Amino acid sequence: MNSNKDNNKIKLIMSFGKMPLANKFLNRENFDDEEFYEMNVGFDEKLSLFQLTNFPDPKKMFDENYAFFSGTSKYMKSHFEKFADQIKFKLKTKLGKKKIIEIGCNDGIMLKNFMDKQEFEHLGIEPSKNVFKIAREKNLNVANEFFSYDFTNKLEKYVGQTDIICAANVICHIPNVLDLFKGVENLLNKKGLFVFEEPYLGDVIKKVSYDQIYDEHVYLFSIMSIQNISNLFGLEIVDVQHQITHGGSMRYFIGRKNVHEISYNFKKYLSYEKIQGLDNFATYMEFKKNCEKSKNRLLSILKSYRDQNKKVSGYAATSKSTTILNYCNIGPDLIESIYDTTPIKINKYSPGKHIPIKDHKFFSQDNPKVSLLFGWNHKNEILNKEKKYTDNGGKWISHIENLL
Ligand code: TYD
Repeated sequence: MNSNKDNNKIKLIMSFGKMPLANKFLNRENFDDEEFYEMNVGFDEKLSLFQLTNFPDPKKMFDENYAFFSGTSKYMKSHFEKFADQIKFKLKTKLGKKKIIEIGCNDGIMLKNFMDKQEFEHLGIEPSKNVFKIAREKNLNVANEFFSYDFTNKLEKYVGQTDIICAANVICHIPNVLDLFKGVENLLNKKGLFVFEEPYLGDVIKKVSYDQIYDEHVYLFSIMSIQNISNLFGLEIVDVQHQITHGGSMRYFIGRKNVHEISYNFKKYLSYEKIQGLDNFATYMEFKKNCEKSKNRLLSILKSYRDQNKKVSGYAATSKSTTILNYCNIGPDLIESIYDTTPIKINKYSPGKHIPIKDHKFFSQDNPKVSLLFGWNHKNEILNKEKKYTDNGGKWISHIENLL
C-alpha cells in the first residue's frame, strides 16, 4: 500500500470504503485472496490537487494482466488519430527528424501514427507487459518501463532534445507526479511541448461522476493543479482544450516558461475553475454530499426494479464500475451480470462484488429489461450499437443524473 497520507498538506474529503483493485477481474477460485484497500480522497490546498490519500502499489495494477486495451473503442481510435494530427500540425515548421515520446503508450493506438521513420524518431514507455507486447508486435519502439526522472537520464538521445512528450489517460496514474514533471523537463528541448489529456476534475465535480475515482487515478487534475505543478519546474500551460472523452477530459499543452504564446482558452477555462471553486475545499465537501445523494438514488432505482422482478444487467465492465458497485454495495442480487467486449474480462467476476461478466454477444439474446450503462462515457457508440435493444423496449439507466 502506498500513501500520500503522511503528507500533512492533504485534507481528507471522504472515504469510498473498502475497494478492490478496479481492473482485477477474477475467477471464482480467487475470491478468498482478493485484496482491498480503503479508498479515501483528499485535497492538497497548496497545489490545488485532488487525489487519493492511499492507493495500491502501481506494480500490482500495471502488470502482465493489465485489462485495459486502448484499442477497444472505435471512437477512441479515431480520437487518437485526430490527436496525432494535431501534434503533427504543431511540429510542421520544425526541420529535420522530430523526436516524440509517449508516456504509457498502451497497445500503441496513438504512437502508431508516428511510425514514419523519415519524419519521426519515436519512443513509447509502457510498464504493463501484455499491452507493451502488443505495441511491440506493431513494430513500435517501446520500452517496458515505468517513467521516472532516473529513467529519463538513460535516454541520452532524448535528454534536452525531445520535441513532443505526449500521454493520454496516464499522467494521473503516476503517483510521483513531481518526479514525472522533473523527467519531462529533463527531456524537452527549448521549444518542446508536453501534451497530455486526462479525465477532468471540473466535469467530475459538475456531473458527480465519482466513478472516475479508482486506484489507477491517483489524481484528478484541474488546470490550476497542473499549472501549480508545472511552475515548480520552470514550465507553464500554453493552451488547454476540453475533450468529450472519458466523460469529460482536458488536454494540456505545456512548455518552458516565456517561450510560447498563452492561449485565450487557457485564461477562459482558468476563470471558469475559479467560479466553480476548484481551489476551494468547501466545493469538495459539497461533492461528498452529492456522492451520497447519487448513491441513494441509484440504490433506490435498482431496488425498485428488483421488487418488480425486472432483470437488471450492467453494460461495459469498466474500471469505473468497480467504484460504483463497491461504494454503493451493489452485488448480483441487484445486477445479474455485466456484458463486455474484453476477452480477458469475459467469464470472470467483477472485483469486490463478484458479478459475472458475460460476452456482449449474448446481450441481445438475454435481453435484460434494464441496463445500467457503466460505459456511460461511450454512450453514443454503445447506444448506436444497441439500437435494436432500445427500440424493442430495453431501458437504459445511469448513476449520472440526466444522462439518458
Ligand atoms: P472505458 O470507459 O474506457 O473503461 P475504464 O473505466 O476502464 O477507463 O471503457 C472500456 C470498457 O468498456 C472495456 O471493458 C470494454 C467496454 N466496452 C464495451 O463492452 N462495449 C463497448 O461498445 C465499448 C465502447 C466499451
